[in-house]
Amino acid sequence: MLIDLRSDTVTKPSPGMREAMAQAEVGDDVYGEDPTVIELEQYSAELLGKEAGLFNPTGTMSNLIAFLTLTNPGDAVILAEQAHIIHYEVGGLTRVANILPLTVPGILGKITEEDIWARYNTGEDVHHAPTTLVSIENTVNRGGGAYYDYEEVSRIGRVCRQLGLKLHCDGARIFNSAIACNIEARYLAEPCDLINFCLSKGLGAPAGSVLCGSKELIQRARKFRKLLGGGMRQAGVLAGGGLYALKHHIDDLRKDHERATIFRRTLEEKGWFFPLPSPTNILFVRVPNAPKFVQTLQEKNILINAVLDDYIRIVFHRDITDTQFQYVLETFIKLS
Ligand SMILES: Cc1ncc(COP(=O)(O)O)c(C=O)c1O
Repeated sequence: MLIDLRSDTVTKPSPGMREAMAQAEVGDDVYGEDPTVIELEQYSAELLGKEAGLFNPTGTMSNLIAFLTLTNPGDAVILAEQAHIIHYEVGGLTRVANILPLTVPGILGKITEEDIWARYNTGEDVHHAPTTLVSIENTVNRGGGAYYDYEEVSRIGRVCRQLGLKLHCDGARIFNSAIACNIEARYLAEPCDLINFCLSKGLGAPAGSVLCGSKELIQRARKFRKLLGGGMRQAGVLAGGGLYALKHHIDDLRKDHERATIFRRTLEEKGWFFPLPSPTNILFVRVPNAPKFVQTLQEKNILINAVLDDYIRIVFHRDITDTQFQYVLETFIKLS
């Protein structure tokens, strides 16, 4: 049996989740008649401390909808060079939302209030696109699962308000961040006008993301979802899985973090090098020849991704059993 550590997106619905999906009441969600989608959207909004939620097919679409909702074509957005939106979302922000990314190097893919002051343009100068939006990612995928804590997001929120900028959070893994910070996710969402989180990563649902914000913004976002072809019909079958994940799986993310810590500590003792901190469920590890290492592990039934010639990425998630985790650990130790 393959042990898949390429990403937490590979998680499959648990038996309880499959049952919830099978039992979900459905209706036509484009008509606003799917009771399970409505329940998921309300439940998500409450968890994130916002007025309303919008169930979207993917995180990529959710982020794009957020950008369309919060900007006008020709605006500029400040975000980190390492943002998932920059690297893995097909440039939708430029191609579809027609906005200019102003990227900042950041540390671990995080931006600071100083970065915002430095990059911000009012647009009054004839040369400049007006900056109207800041986008952060929490946790940061390419930052080794680094997270913004409450103080950091609050400080960013304060600067945004001072400068009249909107704030979006790609919170694909916001519950990992909340667990690492030991606070409710709503506090991390507080300064954000819109926040997206994914149901289909470590939470284990087969599909779906929820964008949360004020009623007014979510109403606007709903129209953009339709424009992008994301209006689904009997989506309650999927929303039922998402609701189950929110009610039963959030706390399990803690175990993924614990495993990342055990894995790292054990291997560091054997001389392995981890180039980034790994406070949540994502680890980068240095190996002499990443493609070859990936192949060696595949022969031992372990799947991982090479990120550079000499780095691999490992993501712990709920579908790894204790026995599998031990096997992975022992395999790495043997390769030391
Ligand atoms: C930080 C982050 N944002 C957004 C996404 C996009 O989610 P999706 O794959 O559902 O489009 C991902 C996916 O891995 C992600 O890691």
